[in-house]
Amino acid sequence: MIRAAGLFVIPLIPLVYLTYAVMIAQVNDPIKYIYSITGSTAIVLLLLTTFLSLIKKYMNFIKYRRMIGLYGFFYSLLHFLNFYVFDAEFKLDFVIKESLDKPFVYLGMISFIILVFMAITSKKTLYSKYYKYHRLLYVVLVLVTVHFVMAQKSLSIIQWVYLLVIIILLGLKFYQKKNVLFKG
Ligand code: HEM
Repeated sequence: MIRAAGLFVIPLIPLVYLTYAVMIAQVNDPIKYIYSITGSTAIVLLLLTTFLSLIKKYMNFIKYRRMIGLYGFFYSLLHFLNFYVFDAEFKLDFVIKESLDKPFVYLGMISFIILVFMAITSKKTLYSKYYKYHRLLYVVLVLVTVHFVMAQKSLSIIQWVYLLVIIILLGLKFYQKKNVLFKG
């Protein structure tokens, strides 16, 4: 019970921190900061759901996977709203122009649309029908990785570490599917 409550509260920490940084500490470039915190948190949570599937034979935390995945979607939604509300100021023509001019925005959009679909179909009644499509999460992970690398001028150490983690994780998942490393 306490563990479940903790898992419910922990993913909210980045949001609390972000609110503090933007509203109270007043960071220099709030829009960029919101992109950074919401985007990175979304990726970390989505990676975590993949990791839980990978280790389910050894530690079964699958029952928390949907909640963590939905939090990942929630941060992607905040990331998108930052773009639509603060960057685009609700102008659809700006959204379309940015998507066409900047391929990394286009990749982000595709990922976000897939995540919306996954969030809707994660409902128990729909999941049994659509679970096969939830493998699209791997496509999302690849697309958002390209998205975030393209958004950078240069990569920091943390971003290199992230790239290493995602390559290892996708590699392990590939081997798991091929039954080379893990069985079951
Ligand atoms: C809804 C479509 C999306 C749009 C319009 C969008 C837009 C952007 C923009 C404009 C930036 C650059 C910020 C800068 O100037 O540095 C950015 C960065 C980033 N985005 Fe997205 N994005 C989208 C979807 C996503 C999704 C779905 C994820 C993750 C699941 C994501 C993760 C990231 C990350 C990690 C960064 C790098 C942040 C940093 O500089 O630390 N984006 N995005």
